[in-house]
Amino acid sequence: MDNFEKLKEMKTLHEFETYALDESLSGHGKLYFSAGACTKSTPRYNEDAFHKYRIRPRVLRDVSEPKIDCKVLNSSVSCPIGISPVGLQVLAHQDAESATAKGQLAILHSLPRNLEDPSVTFEDLKWVIENSKLPVIAKGILSGEDARRVVECGISAIIVSNHGSRLLERVVPTIDVLKEVVDAVSETGTEVYLDGGVRSGSDVFISLALGAKAVFIGRPAIWGLSLGGENGVRKILQILKDELFMTMQVAGVRHIEDIQRSMIIRT
Ligand SMILES: Cc1cc2nc3c(=O)[nH]c(=O)nc-3n(C[C@H](O)[C@H](O)[C@H](O)COP(=O)(O)O)c2cc1C
Repeated sequence: MDNFEKLKEMKTLHEFETYALDESLSGHGKLYFSAGACTKSTPRYNEDAFHKYRIRPRVLRDVSEPKIDCKVLNSSVSCPIGISPVGLQVLAHQDAESATAKGQLAILHSLPRNLEDPSVTFEDLKWVIENSKLPVIAKGILSGEDARRVVECGISAIIVSNHGSRLLERVVPTIDVLKEVVDAVSETGTEVYLDGGVRSGSDVFISLALGAKAVFIGRPAIWGLSLGGENGVRKILQILKDELFMTMQVAGVRHIEDIQRSMIIRT
């Protein structure tokens, strides 16, 4: 079966992951994209944490045609799902980042490497914000206190992220701290996004209910890229969109902004 046929067959992100690890990624790619902080295999803290949350549906709402379009940083987007920066994508596909970008237009770019210097402080962030013509988004925030500090620096938005659990062994799962970050900055109107472990439409729904304005995916885009380049990335996003649409329908929600915190229970 060629890649085109295989792509048509794929129904879930889990299937993409299995195929990427068994077939479509090279040995080097598999190691690089799967590695955790101290392990060769992907830590599942983020994914596992999502499984502790349950959705409480509403009844008797007209959900014949849920709407998943929304606004992110004042721009209209077709769905609240984007792609996080992942390095060395050429290890997944020859067309690398350009194919990922074509698969989806809203893609994050990470700050230059020198901002990953361990001596960087809030003062440096302030300098970047003051000297940037683009909105600056703080990625890697995991506490309410840090969220308040970056907002004071003038940040445009926050991404609750642990960089895919690649840097710190036993790092806190992102979904577990989302609420704290959202609450810490809610009065400032700063948008909060989340990445880490988003693998299904239910994960997107839970994140939005807990206050994220949008979610981003890292590894799943790579799995799609490795199988079908630009079309693979597009298929990954289409699966998430379709699953979000269906989750909204069954949960009795018509618009993204009607997804509420009271619809989520942590078990
Ligand atoms: C192989 C790999 C490389 C990454 N490179 C970067 C990077 O250069 N800059 C960055 O901010 N995040 C980087 N990340 C983290 C992602 O942007 C994102 O936070 C994470 O992958 C989201 O989790 P997920 O893979 O579970 O969706 C990388 C992640 C992976 C898996």
